Amino acid sequence: MRRTLKAAILGATGLVGIEYVRMLADHPYIKPAYLAGKGSVGKPYGEIVRWQTVGNVPKEIANQEVKPTDPKLMDDVDIVFSPLPQGAAGPVEEQFAKLGFNVVSNSPDHRFDMDVPMIIPEVNPHTVTLIDEQRKRRDWKGFIVTTPLCTAQGAAIPLTPIYQNFKMSGVMITTMQSLSGAGYPGIASLDIVDNALPLGDGYDAKTVKEITRILSEVKRNVPEPGVNEITLDATTHRIATIHGHYEVAYVTFKEDTDVRKVMDSMESFKGEPQDLKLPTAPEKPILVTTQDARPQVFFDRWAGNPPGMSVVVGRLKQVNPRTIRFVSLIHNTVRGAAGGGVLTAELLIEKGYIDKR
Ligand code: COA
Ligand code: MG
Repeated sequence: MRRTLKAAILGATGLVGIEYVRMLADHPYIKPAYLAGKGSVGKPYGEIVRWQTVGNVPKEIANQEVKPTDPKLMDDVDIVFSPLPQGAAGPVEEQFAKLGFNVVSNSPDHRFDMDVPMIIPEVNPHTVTLIDEQRKRRDWKGFIVTTPLCTAQGAAIPLTPIYQNFKMSGVMITTMQSLSGAGYPGIASLDIVDNALPLGDGYDAKTVKEITRILSEVKRNVPEPGVNEITLDATTHRIATIHGHYEVAYVTFKEDTDVRKVMDSMESFKGEPQDLKLPTAPEKPILVTTQDARPQVFFDRWAGNPPGMSVVVGRLKQVNPRTIRFVSLIHNTVRGAAGGGVLTAELLIEKGYIDKR
């Protein structure tokens, strides 16, 4: 049997932190052993956390004290999950990696370092080998691995089987994203109630940049076409849902492409986590619905098993012989953040990257 590994969760009281706690409380071999924070240090986790998710704070966790974000106190920790805010995450994660900790980060700060993997385990698992490069270049015993922006994952996961199987020429994406992606207290209610708030050019651009990188890493399996030949664009918005990013994509092809074949490719899509039967891998990373007016954020965001780990795709339509449309729904704080982080950790463990320090 596998040895139980001890995890530290940085920002454990945050909206992604709580999903780590929830998912790891039931995990077969990763235990939430160290809950790190800042303002809540010294207080019992169950008393101060805003548990804005399903269920209740797990009993065995509720009495754990929130502890300082200090690697010196984490001697027996095997893996560090970091969903810290942008800007704060970068230096903290470096400090941990330097000291030999294995860091799985959901934050953007290190995503585009050339020796840092940005992983969706079903899509680009081979990029874990960048860790070897990272350790060599930086002389670190530990490492940093990142997961992509939740918005990018909501599009990149369904686009992967399309990119693998068909000759795509362009993708136009429009998003309607939930509030939890911006944390608590998040956007002022007067800015978001009765509104669809454009996230702006910067957010649109980073969504495109991340999807482009992810697809370029799928390319390894595809002789043609190169991702640079694909025109990608995104228009991103925040709306007043709590969890779940809803995205509409129009995909154009270089040749006539049958929407039913595209649907089959998504339905049968699986990757290494499914082959390896990793505990957090859903049986199907993409669930396709043919029901009219589905998916819906309220009903479908917890789809899959573990709940929230499958992206739901629906409203597939042949627009013309070379254009299709689909919508996707991703649970942003689960598949798009904590769940993706746990699945990435399982992959790293399976590949031998997380040993006893
Ligand atoms: N060092 C240590 N702890 C820090 C910190 C730092 N530099 N910066 C913040 N924290 C702590 C907070 O103080 C808080 O702990 P406390 O309760 O003990 O005071 C804890 O981290 C959680 O706070 P915060 O991260 O603000 O939670 P949130 O729910 O408001 O926001 C995220 C959560 C995930 C949205 C936000 O951290 C974020 O944007 N992260 C980066 C990317 C990401 O994962 N996005 C999710 C997309 S769905
Ligand atoms: Mg906050």
